[in-house]
Parts: sequence; C-alpha cells; structure tokens
Amino acid sequence: MAELFNVYPLYDIEPVRAQGSYLWDVNGTRYLDLYGGHAVISVGHTHPRYVQALTDQLHKISFYSNSVKIPLQQELADKLGALSDHPDYALFLCNSGAEANENALKLASFHNGRTKVVAFKKSFHGRTAGAVAATDNPSIVAPINYNQHVTFLPYNDSEAARTGITSETCAVIIEGIQGVGGIQVATDEFLQTLRKRCDETGTVLILDGVQCGYGRSGKFFSHQFSGIEADIISMAKGMGNGFPIGGILISPKFKASYGLLGTTFGGNHLACTAAIAVLDIMRDEGLMENATNIGNYLMDGIGQIGGYKELRGRGLMIGIEYDFPVDSLRKTLLFEHKQFTGVAGKNTIRLLPSLAIGIDEADQFLEALQHCLNAKGATVTQGAQ
Ligand SMILES: Cc1ncc(COP(=O)(O)O)c(C=O)c1O
Repeated sequence: MAELFNVYPLYDIEPVRAQGSYLWDVNGTRYLDLYGGHAVISVGHTHPRYVQALTDQLHKISFYSNSVKIPLQQELADKLGALSDHPDYALFLCNSGAEANENALKLASFHNGRTKVVAFKKSFHGRTAGAVAATDNPSIVAPINYNQHVTFLPYNDSEAARTGITSETCAVIIEGIQGVGGIQVATDEFLQTLRKRCDETGTVLILDGVQCGYGRSGKFFSHQFSGIEADIISMAKGMGNGFPIGGILISPKFKASYGLLGTTFGGNHLACTAAIAVLDIMRDEGLMENATNIGNYLMDGIGQIGGYKELRGRGLMIGIEYDFPVDSLRKTLLFEHKQFTGVAGKNTIRLLPSLAIGIDEADQFLEALQHCLNAKGATVTQGAQ
C-alpha cells in the first residue's frame, strides 16, 4: 500500500461535515471553526448559495482550457474589480497563493527587466521557487530555490526601506498584515514610504493579499487602509471558500501579450463559479462590515480578558501573543472546548474565522479563552494593546 508522504502533523480528528462556522467529526462531535483551515473559509462552510452554484455548474461544464471563451472569467473580473474597488485592474487567474506570487514576481521582472527583490523579515509568500525565495524561513527553502536576488528588510522600518530599495530593485513584495509571521500589521506610513520609494526607483510594488485580503481585514485588501495603490495584488485562500483558486490583480501600467503568463487549470469553470459565488455572498450579506464588527467585538473581549503580551490585528485577522507557548492552551481549546484556532510561531494564537461568523460564536470563544486562562492561573491583567 502506498503511504502518504508524511509532512503534516495531524490532530486525531476527522471532520466529515461542515456548515457555517462549525465542523462535525466522524463521531458527531461539533467543533467551532475559528481558523477556517488557514483562512480559506470566507463565506462559511457549505453556504447554500455556494453549494447550489457549484452543483449547477458541475452539471453544465466543469473544465476546459484557456483556449476557448470562458465568460465566467470576465464575470469574476467585473465583480472582483467592483467589490475590491479596482475596476481598472486586469485579472490573471491561477490556482494557489504561491502561484499568484510567482506570477506577480515574474510579471514584475518581465516589466522592468530587473532581478532583485526586497521582501521582509518573517514574510511568508508560498513554496514555489520565487515565492519561497522571498519567504523568510530558511528551513523551507531548498538549495535549488535559494537565490541571491532577495534581500530581507525589517518590517515597518521606513528608513531601512528608503535605503534598501534602489534603482536595481525589481520588486518589493509585502503582506499588508503578515499572517504566518504572527499577525504583524504594516503601518500606513510604512506602506506609503514603500509606494513612494518604488515610484522613485521604478520598482514594482506587490501586495500579497493571499491571507490578509479578500475582506478579512474589513477592507477588501488590508493595504487599502493606507490609501496606497499596489502595482500587483496577489490573492487566493478566501477567494474560493475552499475551491482552489488564486489570482493577481494587475495595474493598467502592465501590458499583456500572448503567452506571457499561462496555466492549465487557472480560471476553469468550477473555480470561477466558486469565486463568483463568494463575491456575491460577500456583497449581499455585508461580510466585510461583519468582519469589522465581529473583529472589533473579539478584540474588545480579548482585551478585557487580558493576560496577553500583545494583541494585534484588524477585522477577523487576530493575533494574541502570550509570554508562554500556546500549544497546550490551543489543545485545551480544541479538545475540551471543541474550538479550532491557529498559531504563529510558538506564542501567538492566530484567529482567522469565516467572515460570516456571528456574535454567538465570538462569545463562545471568549468564554472558552477566559476559562482556559483562569485554569492556567494566568495573571488576568490588561496586556499592552
Ligand atoms: C501571505 C501568504 N502568501 C502566500 C501563501 C501561499 O499560499 P498557498 O498555500 O495557497 O500556495 C500563504 C499561505 O499561507 C500566505 O499566507
């Protein structure tokens, strides 16, 4: 019997059904999902409109390659342009976050003919060649991926950016809110400095919105708080609510030509249907406003419980950093309180629930957190905000 290549440490839980913000395992136990499987579940598990749209499409046509007209791609581009407020940007579709960043970096290099990339400490951009080279984690960069092109600058350090970005830099790639890096929020001033410095040097500014995008921060892309325009924005995760799809939004300054970018699966009928359903639901159910409201409610509640070192985030992208490893706290949340959470590093709990999560679910988490911290005997003092 062939074995699975054993790269994932697994919880002994087998979900067999899911709805909204809940999962049920094979024994019928219900779990509250505050993590959305790495920020992927955006409109909620098995949303009826999403299920219906995919089911209908599956009966019509599920796939044909990018050699024929697929009007669903244009519908997706129109709806994405409208909801994200980028109506004049072009859309290229692919299948994952890494692939989106890979294409963004390639496009930048095609555009200005340069090779050097500026990325940031604690960044995560994916595991394909260019994306992983721009990821600040040597343990996942294979020798073949390591290249001399990437410089890692400190995040939120405007002075370092002013000197580190030069007329030799091809692209700057940055997450508006770092996810894997521990929910670090870029300041408006820092993003504005990057924009200015990229303009001065002819450098392409790539905003990686794979985790912090798609409405999670309360704006469609988290960098929109700063008022800057990116040259290229990468997306994936929440885009398909679990159906694999990624893409880049490309500023009008880039010119397309046949064959410049390409993919077999990207933009297929089913993927576009999933992504269109997500956007329709986000718009009709006001999910970005919900992300702001429930995000603020959670932040207030976590703030009142206290006991943390630092609380960071925006909307439904929340990091709670403690001065102790959170492994056992998360296990208690999962196995006693039946709640899925995420982690960043060793000491930070990462919350990335569906954008449709309600007050009731937020309260369940706050109660469970309070209970765990009381039991742990953590000092219930107000942490630094
Ligand atoms: C900010 C960011 N960029 C890119 C990626 C890579 O996405 P994927 O796993 O879909 O390739 C991730 C995944 O966690 C991410 O958080």
